[in-house]
Amino acid sequence: MIDADIPDKNLGESHLKCQFGGLDLELEVPAGVWNPTPNGILLGETLEQMDFSGERILELGTGCGVHAVVLGLRGAAEMVLTEVDASILGHAERNLKKYGIHCPVDLIVADWIQVPQKGFDTIVANPPFALSNKVYRRYFIDTLILEAHKLLNPGGRLIFIHSTMGDVPRTIELLEECSFNVKILADKDFPFRDYYFEDEVYLKEMAAVPGGYTVRDGIRYERLVAFEATLPKA
Ligand SMILES: C[S@@+](CC[C@H](N)C(=O)[O-])C[C@H]1O[C@@H](n2cnc3c(N)ncnc32)[C@H](O)[C@@H]1O
Repeated sequence: MIDADIPDKNLGESHLKCQFGGLDLELEVPAGVWNPTPNGILLGETLEQMDFSGERILELGTGCGVHAVVLGLRGAAEMVLTEVDASILGHAERNLKKYGIHCPVDLIVADWIQVPQKGFDTIVANPPFALSNKVYRRYFIDTLILEAHKLLNPGGRLIFIHSTMGDVPRTIELLEECSFNVKILADKDFPFRDYYFEDEVYLKEMAAVPGGYTVRDGIRYERLVAFEATLPKA
């Protein structure tokens, strides 16, 4: 287990049923493993529509492995999946087995982008944000963007998701400063989750993010945005 501040919310046991295009998935999410949220679901729907044939893929913070299952079913040739604790990886491994993912999969405990392997075609992530337990909220987004070039092949790409509350213009600017070509793969509005309202500091911070959320009929909505950011080929 790595020395990380892991939130105690959104970690209850659940049985996840989701439909991503033509894929119907039912996954076990035991206690202590992150329950996929609308971010994870939109990222899953997005990945389902893509082709990963022959690719070597890294997923940071795989949780129950929902995205790794989709990546495997969409042709991944090899995957490295990370988490903060080996027991979480064991659950992800069970879900991969359930869906017959047979490509080589390396499950490793690693602190976010500090991964010993390199040479990836794609890095996938749903970075912690609302419950990141970091004073600097964008910590996991910014370190992903700043460090990814060390792990990616030339022409390699990042596929990740965060909401307007994570400051989408800032993400695009930082990606472009780091020579990535940026594309928005999907975006969708979602109402605030209950646990947002349990954290006054978070609500106050989010109210200060320009364009962070909209209010309609008294309900606050954030917009989830899935990014694809590709490095130049040489
Ligand atoms: C927002 S959840 C996403 C989980 C899963 N990919 C999904 O979308 O359902 C973020 C995940 O990152 C993991 N995590 C948190 N801190 C981490 C760190 N320092 N290194 C690696 N993973 C971390 C958490 O345990 C959690 O599973």
